[in-house]
Amino acid sequence: APLTRRALLTGALAVGGLAAVGARPAVGERAVTTRLVAGQVARRLTPEQPQASRLRLYNGTVLPVLRLKKGQPVEITLENRLPDEHTTVHWHGLRIAHAMDGVPYITQPPVEPGESFTYRFAPPDAGTFFFHPHCNTVEQLGRGLAGVLVVEGDEARPFDADLVLAYKDWDLAPDGTLGPFLTLKGAANAGTFGSLTTVNGEVVTKERQPVFEVPAGADLRLRFLNLDNTRLLGLGLHGAEAWLVASDGQPLPPLELKNWRMGPAMRADLALRTPDRPGAVVEVLNQRAAKPKVLARLVTTGQPRRRAPFEPTHLTGPFLPEPQIEGAPVVPMVFSTAPGPSAPPPELAGLPFADALCLNPRTLWAINRQTWPQEGHAHPPAPLATLQRGRTYVLELNNISKHFHPIHLHGHSFKVFWSSDDAELPVHWADTTLVAPGERRRVAFVADNPGDWMFHCHIIEHQETGMMGLVRVA
Ligand code: C2O
Ligand code: CU
Repeated sequence: APLTRRALLTGALAVGGLAAVGARPAVGERAVTTRLVAGQVARRLTPEQPQASRLRLYNGTVLPVLRLKKGQPVEITLENRLPDEHTTVHWHGLRIAHAMDGVPYITQPPVEPGESFTYRFAPPDAGTFFFHPHCNTVEQLGRGLAGVLVVEGDEARPFDADLVLAYKDWDLAPDGTLGPFLTLKGAANAGTFGSLTTVNGEVVTKERQPVFEVPAGADLRLRFLNLDNTRLLGLGLHGAEAWLVASDGQPLPPLELKNWRMGPAMRADLALRTPDRPGAVVEVLNQRAAKPKVLARLVTTGQPRRRAPFEPTHLTGPFLPEPQIEGAPVVPMVFSTAPGPSAPPPELAGLPFADALCLNPRTLWAINRQTWPQEGHAHPPAPLATLQRGRTYVLELNNISKHFHPIHLHGHSFKVFWSSDDAELPVHWADTTLVAPGERRRVAFVADNPGDWMFHCHIIEHQETGMMGLVRVA
């Protein structure tokens, strides 16, 4: 029988281990506290696999959903119960203080096994975000350490239902082992693709996709997250008209959804009216390839909730400082292969990366011809740029490589306002933007959050092989 999940009604939340949050705090009151336990769990991802996979999860749940409220102070204690490695939590897209950003050595000491660390912040923006470690990310994220973060408080008119769909592939071998996560061949190209696709941890195949019940004739908010290490998606819907109402958590004027390109770490909030007829199906599609793939089916139930025709409304916000683009300094950021030969010698292609690295230590990718030292976060390079606090900057993201790069800046959201390839690119806010091979993209923001912020590709194998740097706001 197909798996059925009832769409979470707004406010009615039940998520493994995280329900404590949102117990009933009003904004401005005492901090809400909750725990995130990072641990190793043996679990089968498919019924067919002969033995369980070694997953790494928060609170024993695949992609748990944490719901917070805009402006509500929280204290989230990370407990590291991983047997063998340190970790941290990075709150991707949240414009919070540097000390809470979760980058080992740069913003905090790494949290060793058996230790804990408490993150304290009040989410400044409502929207759809996520969290993940910033240590050995390719494997920790690859084994499942990530969660969805929904910050409530941006709806001028409430939706009837709110559904989170989080996409992730797993690098699953037939015997149930996961990995290798990082291969020289993958890292030097578009990345190592997983073999098993899931949405909210439910397996997606050509024959069968997860099914979610949604109310008929109702206003649905669909929060779609690409939480894969590698895969690029083209988000589309079949069976209903949908509007993009937020990108990376930040509202934008409703834009009819056709095919929204989503690299790893990117999020899209959609607003739509579900069909009136109970039992109708809306398909959520990956239209990246010529032949679209169905990722999930939304099936309507009950009597239609709404009579008036649907009108996509603007979410409240964004509440971001408006960049003064005219006359702002333009900082070039060039994304390329590392200086020197970059193609792996044929005898090393396909080897697990760690092995290949022993034989042939090097980095593969660079920003402004600078690569992050291979020894990891503990050895930060000089900043790529030093920005004056409070000023507007334009970053010109110039991809001179043969592969796509979803580029992410910590601690800020930026306005994507120009592309050399796409004159029709809608102006929108983002914290991660996908730059195509040969494309130049301009993004602008007010550098208002002091600190040394990570700036990197979110194809994790690219990040871990050099395409990572620091932007200093001082
Ligand atoms: Cu989600 Cu430094 O990234
Ligand atoms: Cu990349």
